[in-house]
Amino acid sequence: MIQTETINIQPTNESRLPQLDFESLVFGRTFSDHMLVMDFKDGKWQKPSILPYQNLSMSPASSVIHYGQSIFEGLKAFKNENGDFGLFRPDRNIDRMNKSAVRMCMPELPTELVLEGLKELVRLDQGWIPTSEMGSLYIRPVLFATDEYIGVKASDTYRFLIFTAPVNAYYTKPVKVKIERNYTRAAHGGTGAAKAAGNYAGSLYPARLANQQGYDQLLWTDAQTHSYIEESGTMNVMFLIDDTLITPALSDTILDGITRSSVLELARSWGMKVEERKVSVQEITDAAKEGRLKDAFGCGTAATIAQIASIADGDQEYVLPEVEEREFSKKLSNYFIDLKKFRIEDSLNWMIKLN
Ligand SMILES: Cc1ncc(COP(=O)(O)O)c(C=O)c1O
Repeated sequence: MIQTETINIQPTNESRLPQLDFESLVFGRTFSDHMLVMDFKDGKWQKPSILPYQNLSMSPASSVIHYGQSIFEGLKAFKNENGDFGLFRPDRNIDRMNKSAVRMCMPELPTELVLEGLKELVRLDQGWIPTSEMGSLYIRPVLFATDEYIGVKASDTYRFLIFTAPVNAYYTKPVKVKIERNYTRAAHGGTGAAKAAGNYAGSLYPARLANQQGYDQLLWTDAQTHSYIEESGTMNVMFLIDDTLITPALSDTILDGITRSSVLELARSWGMKVEERKVSVQEITDAAKEGRLKDAFGCGTAATIAQIASIADGDQEYVLPEVEEREFSKKLSNYFIDLKKFRIEDSLNWMIKLN
């Protein structure tokens, strides 16, 4: 056991890295050697430890299993062919997790300590970061309630974990999406803007129906009228109509995506017209019919930029321009890859280099 002032580190005796085949990774199925664990009890955060990745043991009465106090995050580390590696905007994920924590009645994390622990963890498992063009180390922080108590109340104790998974591209081709006009992901006053586990549980059934109809993802609409676009399953969504980039404005029903805000900042710095506002389904389908919908894509950590091949609304399917014609989303994808692989100047200070 290595003891630093702030973190206990117990490296594994037997790394699983030699068995890893970087070529045949299935997204989210392979986990690196170590994880960070930090408990909240007696009203305060305890000293975190980095331990070998292992199963958890918990009581059947653990409150998270029953009442769902669980929030999570997703971010990535990248490495280039020369071995340079680092994190993309990790501070934003910790901030967002703290916002989710407040909404779910959970304790906020000590930001600096979590960032330090995250850096240590990624340094320790740096050998697990793929160097391939679309490869990265997906990082999953998760915070959940641990009280052994059956009764609906906010837990007094919590566990925070960070573990990591080497991954390749999330989507290998443009996605077919369906506008969801019946089921609802989030309503005003609810938890849609928090990265709360239950939001995802509720989305599974409508997503399965869409999959059975041949679609990759849903485009959620507002709970009241089902006529305004909100976001996609695990991505925010953007449309290029003529030469204006349009995206639904943030609200308490939409997750404040870090990729979304990065894309908007970049687009503005490139001199594009950008609008964050309510986006009606009618407007999108009209633009598609008139040939003015030049590009549409989802943006999120897992896929970064996922071009949309077609949008279905009821029986109507609107096919978007060929990928080769989509200058903007291609430029964005290339910019993000080059930035994350340390090939271009990081003028916006988004990367935290770890070596
Ligand atoms: C519901 C939802 N919307 C949007 C996003 C995109 O957010 P980010 O770009 O921070 O990954 C995610 C993924 O985290 C998500 O789960």
